[in-house]
Amino acid sequence: MVEYKLVDFRTFGDNRGNLVTIEAEQDIPFKVNRVYYIYGSEKEIVRGKHAHKELEQVIFCASGSCDFILDDGKERVTVHLDKPNQGLYIKNNIWREFTNFSEGCVVMVLASNHYDEADYIRNYDDFLKFAKENY
Ligand code: TYD
Repeated sequence: MVEYKLVDFRTFGDNRGNLVTIEAEQDIPFKVNRVYYIYGSEKEIVRGKHAHKELEQVIFCASGSCDFILDDGKERVTVHLDKPNQGLYIKNNIWREFTNFSEGCVVMVLASNHYDEADYIRNYDDFLKFAKENY
């Protein structure tokens, strides 16, 4: 089984709308050192196509929906993200691709570390090798 978790964020809704909270080290298991987001991707575009050696992330669609394909070197699953108050938690060492972006989709990513290209594995065969050696 590919290891991932769906996390429901605390949501305060009333007739004015909804307010969602995400507290680092409480609602999600790490301290957030970086936030980035993606918008303006066409439906058939495939992003990601990498794994991380150390980085942990929580990912959610603040608006719209998209598909996350997760691969641990043995198995592949597709997780559909379409709720602004539900995040996908993934640890390191998982190959990820994301696609099927809806019109106006905004993908938010909370990351445990600053950007570091050395933490990326961008070649799938290198990932398979790394996954084998590390697990
Ligand atoms: P890329 O890894 O191709 O994005 P995705 O995983 O969505 O396919 O990143 C696009 C560019 O942005 C690339 O030149 C690296 C840069 N980048 C940063 O400078 N900082 C960041 O935090 C991230 C995620 C990317």
